[in-house]
Amino acid sequence: MVFILAATGSAVGLGNIWRFSYMVGESGGAAFVLLYLGCVLLIGMPVLLAEWILGRRGQSNPINTMAKLAREGGRTQAWILIGLSGILAAFLILSFYSVIGGWSLAYILSTVTGTFTDQDAEAVGEHFNSLLGSPGVLLLWHTAFMVLVVGIVARGVTKGLEAAVRTLMPALVILLALLVVYGMTTGHFGEALRFMFSPDWGAVTGEVVIAAMGQAFFTLSLGMGIMMAYGSYLGRDVKLVSTAGTVIVLDTVVALLAGMAIFPIVFLHGLSPGEGPGLIFVTLPIAFGNITGGVILGLIFFLLLTFAALTSAISLLEPVVEFVQERSPFSRVWSTVAAAICIWALGIAALMSFNVWDFPILFGLNVFDLLDTFTSRFLLPLTGLGAVVFAAWFLDRESVRQELAMGTTGTMLWNVVARFVAPIGVVIVFVSAFL
Ligand code: PFF
Repeated sequence: MVFILAATGSAVGLGNIWRFSYMVGESGGAAFVLLYLGCVLLIGMPVLLAEWILGRRGQSNPINTMAKLAREGGRTQAWILIGLSGILAAFLILSFYSVIGGWSLAYILSTVTGTFTDQDAEAVGEHFNSLLGSPGVLLLWHTAFMVLVVGIVARGVTKGLEAAVRTLMPALVILLALLVVYGMTTGHFGEALRFMFSPDWGAVTGEVVIAAMGQAFFTLSLGMGIMMAYGSYLGRDVKLVSTAGTVIVLDTVVALLAGMAIFPIVFLHGLSPGEGPGLIFVTLPIAFGNITGGVILGLIFFLLLTFAALTSAISLLEPVVEFVQERSPFSRVWSTVAAAICIWALGIAALMSFNVWDFPILFGLNVFDLLDTFTSRFLLPLTGLGAVVFAAWFLDRESVRQELAMGTTGTMLWNVVARFVAPIGVVIVFVSAFL
């Protein structure tokens, strides 16, 4: 049970609410959603299982796990690259994740102070833009978020958080469901549903396909070695397939509910779905500002969002800290502080992309977009590909059979999906993005 809570705590985060909705909006809606669901099922699920299988076999952190399994199987030590690129990805992702975590913290305060009460879409949008336009304020909130994460990781109090996931995660789902009801009764719900679920395949580009796959990896915390590290704590008796199913369903439900809460408000107020990373911050406050008890509901929402962001951020910092601690004379606390300072500094470059550095630096992307795009679309899928290929092709069959503990049909299905469907899927997505 603790395992499911930890894995869900890592998976459910800003990716489901903030990133999912803005990606859907930016990528044109339903085709992206369906491609994302397809990627979750056909690529995400096997990669998740592969990471857990490797982790439970290896019984260590991703680098040592891959070193051990490669040695045992007589394979090259180059497989530890999977562990290394995972750590790099976690490092890079946390830098910009913390900036958005900071926005969520900032909105707790804005909501309680009544900033959104009775405000229209324009005023809410202006509030967000003024936040983006103030690097100093953004830095303050980014720092506050990072300090919270460091405090928790350095003291190793994640156990308490896992217990909190049990109550706070359902609370988040209920609140999102309430917002969906608000969208149904007040917003342009039909239009939102059509936008999210009725695809126009003609408009799909390689860019959309790779973005959908990136979202699947990001939201399930895959390709970062994190799930592999969790796998090493996994009890022998835990059934991998049903546990993966539970985590994936929960994660997907949160994302879909978030979309169904946000888009009715977008269309009601004539906002652009392609607004970008600010989408939830310029839509949901409109709802909170205009319903009775909105201040309380808004406060609870941003508290829950921050909590979800924290549990994910902790899972991002852990592997980096462990890496530093193993290779330096630093204690746990100092390893945490050292890793966090580097991540925090990179985060400053990310937050300046919304104001003073609001220009492309490479491939037409600013620092923030570059960090996000490079990790979710390249590093994560490639690392995940490595994990699933190793588990499906290079780990001995008997180990895999024992780990999965499924009947003959189940094992056969795993073989087909993990050996062919998922790896070929990742390759096809990459190729289609460059056509
Ligand atoms: N899955 C988290 C989210 O959706 O917000 C983000 C994340 C956490 C990504 C941990 C990667 C990770 F290793």
